[in-house]
Amino acid sequence: MIKNDLFLRALKGETVERPPVWMMRQAGRYLPDFMKLKEKYDFFTRCRTPELATEITVMPIHQVGTDAAILFSDILVVPQAMNIEVQMKDGIGPWLPNPVRTQTAVDQVIVPNIEETLGYVLDAVKMTKEALNDEVPLIGFAGSPWTILCYAVQGQGSKNFDKAKEFCFTNPVAAHTLLQKITDTTIAYLKAKVAAGVDAVQVFDSWGGMLSPVDYQEFSWKYIQQIIDALKDETPVIAFGKGCWFALQEMAKSGASALGVDWTCSARNARYLTGGNITLQGNFDPSRLLSPPAEIKKMVTQMINEFGKDRYIANLGHGILPNIPVDNAKAFVEAVKEYRG
Ligand code: CP3
Repeated sequence: MIKNDLFLRALKGETVERPPVWMMRQAGRYLPDFMKLKEKYDFFTRCRTPELATEITVMPIHQVGTDAAILFSDILVVPQAMNIEVQMKDGIGPWLPNPVRTQTAVDQVIVPNIEETLGYVLDAVKMTKEALNDEVPLIGFAGSPWTILCYAVQGQGSKNFDKAKEFCFTNPVAAHTLLQKITDTTIAYLKAKVAAGVDAVQVFDSWGGMLSPVDYQEFSWKYIQQIIDALKDETPVIAFGKGCWFALQEMAKSGASALGVDWTCSARNARYLTGGNITLQGNFDPSRLLSPPAEIKKMVTQMINEFGKDRYIANLGHGILPNIPVDNAKAFVEAVKEYRG
């Protein structure tokens, strides 16, 4: 039994004393101890070494006090396992030297054996579960098939992922073959993470909001729905689509336990679109953590009042920024913990 089970209870829609809180990208560059490890080990070494992944995962639990841990890893370990080379370059971010832009390239992408290619993530899950000692739940995650396609085709981060969209719109057959391969891999990967011990999973559709509502259904949502269908009887699934407020109504019918919301969608609108019955997660503007702590606390209380304390998980609307002072992140977490509705 997990001692602090607020997060799991909120996912079930149970009445809670206060909402649980965690932050997307909470195991990241705003933590000085993380930066010390970053100096010594490159990014994918940190991901591939279970001892390091464990150490980084528990950092925010001890130093900031969140109610859930999210495994330190990256969404891009999945395309790596599928035979697509991915590097992480300082100052650039993800870098894929051989982007997938033809049917022939799609044919070379494999649906891998998870234990063989991503066994190190499963080892990290097991080691982290031991280190957490049932204090808080552990979240496992994957990128959405569309978001992974964005990197696989574009070859790097982008303001508009124009090459990824061009590929989908000019070569839809190859695009759908690639999306299905990513989906099949992701389902097997998340199931293996559940078997290894994660208590819930989150699908990050970070670039879903790049698509029009119609294209979103075709190139993103339908594959996320397959993932939810395959996982929902084994574990709670959180679907986070950045910029995807337009799809919330459909997402609420998906079988997901919770939906992530970013800061461009008001709590009232998110509740209205989702019918008021599903747990929502979000949606503090990550840049607002630059405000003075007293102001952060006021805004957090207001955010909880707007979403309501039940069926709600306090979080940011996207990942925490590297330039956030640790004390401001703490003020965010403390404000939720001090909430009395
Ligand atoms: O949330 C957590 O704390 C768990 C760890 C986590 C990381 N990446 C660690 C990481 C998670 C959940 C991710 C997901 C991820 N990775 C997403 C989806 C979430 C989102 O923010 O939209 C995406 C799009 C990626 C791809 C990726 N990986 C990018 C765009 C970058 C940043 C590149 C840069 O330099 O700004 C990464 C690298 C990365 N992944 C870092 C961390 C802590 C920072 C780089 C480093 O530590 O060396």
